[in-house]
Amino acid sequence: MSEHRPQLEITRDAATAAARAAEIVASRVASGAAKVLGLATGGTMVPVYAHLVAAVQARKLSFHGVTGFNLDEYVGVAPHLPASFHAYMRQHLFALTDFAPDHAHIPDGLAPDLAAEASRYEMAIAQAGGIDLQLLGIGSNGHIGFNEPGSDFASRTRVVELSEATRRANAVAFPDGAVPEQALTMGVGTILQARDILLLATGVEKAGAIAAAIEGPLSTDCPASALRLHQRVRIICDEAAASELDGPTADIRRRA
Ligand code: GLP
Repeated sequence: MSEHRPQLEITRDAATAAARAAEIVASRVASGAAKVLGLATGGTMVPVYAHLVAAVQARKLSFHGVTGFNLDEYVGVAPHLPASFHAYMRQHLFALTDFAPDHAHIPDGLAPDLAAEASRYEMAIAQAGGIDLQLLGIGSNGHIGFNEPGSDFASRTRVVELSEATRRANAVAFPDGAVPEQALTMGVGTILQARDILLLATGVEKAGAIAAAIEGPLSTDCPASALRLHQRVRIICDEAAASELDGPTADIRRRA
């Protein structure tokens, strides 16, 4: 597989980066180019979903006929609990828009047979025709979805062990301190099958991961570096997240 340079857009701040990501998602959905969306969670996506919700409420956008596949879910966290990604998606997107509940897919972290659930999820993506546009955040250790460093670039949806760094970063959602040790996540290979990929990173805590993803070695040490194996990746960063880029990509500045 050959390497490609992701298209990079650097905005002056996080709010502008989120608005730009939302604009791209909204225009692809509105044109019918993105009928199947890969959806992400995390703090970075909250303002993106807020823009999309505002557009739906202003009747400028509709998710009618759109299918969503979320990247991941914690193992053992019931969907009604606020820390689950099911609850996150209801709170930030699904319950506030016309997204059809039966078209909103999230891995079932309570499934009695997690390996069977992972295969079922892969099959559901395939049956929907594959993902048109995959929205991604990035962990400060370079993870995408919950594919931690070391994840094989050919990996598929599966159960993974969460790293200590990731468990610490997500601990705020678990006030009782019971941060799950495992998650179900689409694999790096699953993500790379999306037709288009849009990664959004904001804040200085993502600067090292963004530099490693774009300018570091192509290595499972930084799972996001695998995105360079895909021809149609756009990365939107604010200045803070772009602050450790020092190769030729550092010259690309798009101040909106
Ligand atoms: C989480 C999610 C990722 C997300 C990342 C960054 O653990 N599994 O999909 O992109 O970590 O989250 P945040 O946007 O809160 O920094």
